[in-house]
Amino acid sequence: MRKWLLAAAAAVFVMAPGTGLAQQPIIIKFSHVVSPDAPKGKAALLFKELAEKYTNGKVKVEVYPNSSLYKDKEELEALQLGSVQILAPSISKFAPLGVKEYDVFDLPYLMTDDEHARAMYASPMMAELGKKLEAKMVEPLAYWDNGAHVYTANVPLIMPEDFRGLKMRIQGSKVLDAVARQLGAIPQIIAFGELYQALQTGVVDGEDNVASNVLTQKFYEVQKHMTLSHHSRLTYALVTNKTFWNGLPDDVRAQLDRAVKETNAFFNDTAAKDNADAIERIRASGKTEIHVLTDTERKAWINKLMPVHVEMQGRFGKDFIDRIYKASGFVPPQS
Ligand code: LMR
Repeated sequence: MRKWLLAAAAAVFVMAPGTGLAQQPIIIKFSHVVSPDAPKGKAALLFKELAEKYTNGKVKVEVYPNSSLYKDKEELEALQLGSVQILAPSISKFAPLGVKEYDVFDLPYLMTDDEHARAMYASPMMAELGKKLEAKMVEPLAYWDNGAHVYTANVPLIMPEDFRGLKMRIQGSKVLDAVARQLGAIPQIIAFGELYQALQTGVVDGEDNVASNVLTQKFYEVQKHMTLSHHSRLTYALVTNKTFWNGLPDDVRAQLDRAVKETNAFFNDTAAKDNADAIERIRASGKTEIHVLTDTERKAWINKLMPVHVEMQGRFGKDFIDRIYKASGFVPPQS
């Protein structure tokens, strides 16, 4: 009887490639936390379209926007477990995986313009950092730079003193925690999917983000002021589960790589435009006053925040920070 069962099982196994079962598409669940009409949301939908087209339907991509499947921390755990195959989290959220190095990109004013960010993300240091993620089963496929952060609150944030005593939402990074404390604020980690409500109910007083998120998550409805502070950047890593990706048939992976490449180009074309447009739409709503810092105000912010670079030498080591400065072209200002 046992022999017969084994033989029957073997027959099913051999037959499988020719059966309907073998022709089932490979499902890729792509989970993210932003709106479908934010730059990342649009890029996820484009990736779906291209991946399905280029693989002739061998792959089906299911996109889950707006934290509908998982929130910030959960989605990374789900990726490691293989419950979801692609994510594009902010790189400020990797420390809980045991990869603290990405927090370095939150050092204030490290990459305030596109040029510095481009130099950094094209540098060989990214491959070195990518290995740390791979060791945790998380394989980076691309980096998407979504531009410079703005701050929002219900009070005008013009000088560093204006932050004193405010409860500010931060992403998970320890550098962002240090930035908030240096400003005299009280940092609070809140998942992106819970942020609107936290702002609306006063659990936190303010946050920093890119303008396209402020618009598409409707934060501007519950925040009276927005400062174009450009103190840091929001960058995503398009990541996959390493075992899943490496287990794909070669032809499928090649077509997905092609879809990733074209999606990268789309993201780079779209993000800056969408963020500029979002500022205008927020202004036009009349609900949020937009502040542009004068040179003197900006200098005051820089002077206030540069000590965070020194403090963080303890976390990353001076050598590592110096290598990041070199790769991004950052020169610490003389105070
Ligand atoms: C945030 O948590 O503020 C952002 O990282 C959300 C996002 O993914 O754009």
